[in-house]
Amino acid sequence: MTETTGKQNLVFIGQPIDRLDGPFKVSGRATYAYEHQHGEPLHGMLMGAGVGKGRIRRLDTSAAEAMPGVHLVMTYRNAPAQASFGEELTVKPGTQRPRPVLFSPDIRYYDEPVALVVADSLETARAAIQQIEIEYSTAQGIFSLEDAREAVYAPATANAGLATESLIGDAEAAFASAPMRFDATYTNAFEHHAPMEPHAALAVWNGSQLTIFTSTQTLWQIQEGVANTLRMPKENVRIVSPFIGGGFGSKLIAHAETISAALAARALNRPVKVAFTRQQMFANAGHRPMFEQRFRLGADRSGKLVSFSHDSLGTTSRFEEFAEQSASAYRSMYAAPDRATRHRLAPLDTNRGEWMRAPGEAPAMLAGECAIDEFAEQLGMDPIEFRILNEPERDPERNVPFSTRKLVDCMREGAERFGWRARQAKPASVVEGRKLIGIGMSAAIRANYIGPGSCRVRIDRQGELTVELDMTDIGTGTYTILAQVAADSMGIPLRRVGISLGDTLFPRTAGSGGSWGATSTASALHDACRLLKEQIVRVARETLNSPFFGANGEGFEFSGDRVIVGDRTAALTDLLELVAPEGMTAVGTVERGQNLRDYSQHTYGAHFAEVEVDADTGEVRLRRMLGVFAAGRIFNPKTARSQMIGGMIWGIGAALMEEGGLDPRYGNFVYGDLASYHVPVHADIGEIDAVFLDEHDDKANVFGAKGIGELGVCGAGASIVNAVYNATGIRIRSFPITVDKVLAVLPEI
Ligand code: MOS
Repeated sequence: MTETTGKQNLVFIGQPIDRLDGPFKVSGRATYAYEHQHGEPLHGMLMGAGVGKGRIRRLDTSAAEAMPGVHLVMTYRNAPAQASFGEELTVKPGTQRPRPVLFSPDIRYYDEPVALVVADSLETARAAIQQIEIEYSTAQGIFSLEDAREAVYAPATANAGLATESLIGDAEAAFASAPMRFDATYTNAFEHHAPMEPHAALAVWNGSQLTIFTSTQTLWQIQEGVANTLRMPKENVRIVSPFIGGGFGSKLIAHAETISAALAARALNRPVKVAFTRQQMFANAGHRPMFEQRFRLGADRSGKLVSFSHDSLGTTSRFEEFAEQSASAYRSMYAAPDRATRHRLAPLDTNRGEWMRAPGEAPAMLAGECAIDEFAEQLGMDPIEFRILNEPERDPERNVPFSTRKLVDCMREGAERFGWRARQAKPASVVEGRKLIGIGMSAAIRANYIGPGSCRVRIDRQGELTVELDMTDIGTGTYTILAQVAADSMGIPLRRVGISLGDTLFPRTAGSGGSWGATSTASALHDACRLLKEQIVRVARETLNSPFFGANGEGFEFSGDRVIVGDRTAALTDLLELVAPEGMTAVGTVERGQNLRDYSQHTYGAHFAEVEVDADTGEVRLRRMLGVFAAGRIFNPKTARSQMIGGMIWGIGAALMEEGGLDPRYGNFVYGDLASYHVPVHADIGEIDAVFLDEHDDKANVFGAKGIGELGVCGAGASIVNAVYNATGIRIRSFPITVDKVLAVLPEI
């Protein structure tokens, strides 16, 4: 880094500023995908297959087509030609594979769309679906990890190009000869994406130009996905997504609602909107795969790890691979000279898994941080002291330095704040009436990425700064933090900044994903502001006998509404009036981050939880939870805290509630709504807080900031599971640990 943003320049960054988009959202003025109007859009509704594997044998759409108000029933028979899905199993990085819909009578997974009905109203479309007659011939599918065991294979790479296997030394031999050993296998259930706003799209054609209003995290990936599927230049596809009601990974790429809306709108020459119902989200918007993860840990008698093995078996789809990088999560975590981490996949006849917040770390650390806790207990050690003893000085696999690593500080700070010292190490020691009380903790790590992108800024003669980029705000606070960054990078008041996001007409960014959104786009924005200021100063020097300048204009400073040069000051608008009467524009960029290569660069955290377990019903209730995190500079402590708490609550869900159930006979996800697929609600969460340690990672970017989006969920669930153990003395290694599992082993008290 050649430039650092010194503290003296930061007026707004670091402040807990309220969300700028908040008033729009609470007053209904934030327009979401399905709410956009364009003339009088028709309403499309998808019908899903009623078998998990097979072929459409008979299809009669005539009654549906004859219904008043129905404009189109699209099936594989009449859907326009699309690019084929492709034979290869792995998408090349940087390209989006075609995702055709309604292209074949073959059924690849339960609830795969078999028809789109387009009608004047949603109600008519839904009623018409009931009139479609369809029969299938069914084929034997593989719908469980058990049944897929013979087909288990090693993927060429895991997600993000991470190595399928990483073998350092001889972990098996070191484990076999270790005086202390721990060997256990944990399973995670499927998890489903359940954003408040399900996937939705409104497609509008204007000649060869297609505009799609949709709900997405990453605009360019939707644009490419649509363009590749419809075989059109991507320049002719515009994606608009200004407000998003939550995106947890499933909104990274194009899905059936978007493609089918585009096809139908073209066929009918009318705008068409299509949304997934909540039920359709479960099979059609991806999921987090199921995992079976084995941890084998060997230690010497002092508790120092000599061997660390993590074998992860995850489910994938038979027609498209998804290799969640779960076995990569521990590669930078604990010191151990001999190490082995491996991915294996079990192919099922389901839609493939997709990215879900903290892909890799979330399932890995739910299991792995329990394994660490179990081994610490076996060794007779405090779990924090055990982790500290096994803290590496350099990255344990890559032998590069850590850019920063405040994991130990997170654990110590958390222990202090939470009152860890009061914990009874012996399980089932604290009883209050019929409640068993326990405390647990876990650690967290998440890699930090910077994605390439650019950003345009424009200042007008009134000093109003307009910022444009195709970044999205998925509820995380992007509008707000980018305004803070723009104001500080320019040295102007926050109220002078306007942020425009979510349109492919704006410069391309890496979008919201992988925890890279804030830091990547803030870097491009900072660069744009730097260039804009340089341009203003240059023009001022070149063209003016400026009353503001000394001999060479040294020391030019933007400060609030004024500019300062030496001991003179003037209104910024007066300067702009002179040098930029028509306004001035600059485009800044950020390159793909390289520091991950030269350094081990991560964010860290520690979770602490206190639970009570009902001795009669087995119900686990969270009493309080604390997360302490180190993630570099925090742009906005209010939005950041909110995001961490959201992640932690998801961890609670993974530990106690979230359980996607695939019927091994028919291949349908049996829980298809939020009444049966449980996520934590307000009443489930006791006292919860998240705090950040003061940190500045000068290897990260000009701000010293790192991404936080996925850190909150990493390891969070394990602190709950470990607390349940501390409360009851029972270990359950199949997640979520629902009441039935707890009751089955809960001892009588
Ligand atoms: Mo994230 S899984 O890239 O939303």
